[in-house]
Amino acid sequence: MTTESKGFIIWFTGLSGAGKTTIARILEDRILASGRNVESLDGDVVRTNLSKGLGFSKQDRDTNVRRIGFVAHLLERNGVAVICSAISPYKMTRDEIREMVGHGFIEVFADCPLDVCATRDGKVEMYAKARSGELKEFTGVSDPYEPPTNPDVHLITNGEAPEESAQHILAHLVERGFLSESVLRQPVSR
Ligand code: ADX
Repeated sequence: MTTESKGFIIWFTGLSGAGKTTIARILEDRILASGRNVESLDGDVVRTNLSKGLGFSKQDRDTNVRRIGFVAHLLERNGVAVICSAISPYKMTRDEIREMVGHGFIEVFADCPLDVCATRDGKVEMYAKARSGELKEFTGVSDPYEPPTNPDVHLITNGEAPEESAQHILAHLVERGFLSESVLRQPVSR
């Protein structure tokens, strides 16, 4: 297998509303268009099937994140481009997955101030409930979020469009030899 057909895992981390899912969808389209097999594992989606029934305690979040990591690793080692987008708030748990996967693990920090996340589509009500205490253990409000200290890609998602963020990630993948340069020239269309 050449490096350009080797699997990899784009592992997003960031607050709810930071843009992980939006950027992941654009990235998925771009990588698919380049002819690679892609799979997405999104926290909100995984919690309706693979992680159904899990809550938001540290233990349940770690279980959720480890399950995502396990499935992502199976796919990655079979040459698939995998995109994972869960908050994954705990550094040690993310590092555990990095350790398991090795070179193909690419941590992407979707960095966005909490106050901006709380205004994003579909998130306003949840943040209001979290702030009033109605929704407990809410990441960034009443539950911890441990930002990565040395992410492979650091996106300031309130300072650029999701398409630009996706382009930064693609450039990193090209630089690391996981995708060929032509992926950077594909038109952005959804
Ligand atoms: S993780 O912490 O286990 O990685 P995950 O990404 O799967 O979290 O799920 C987060 C999503 O669940 C949020 O985008 C939000 O829609 C929803 N959610 C519901 N309750 C909470 C909560 N207490 N903390 C964070 N997100 C929550």
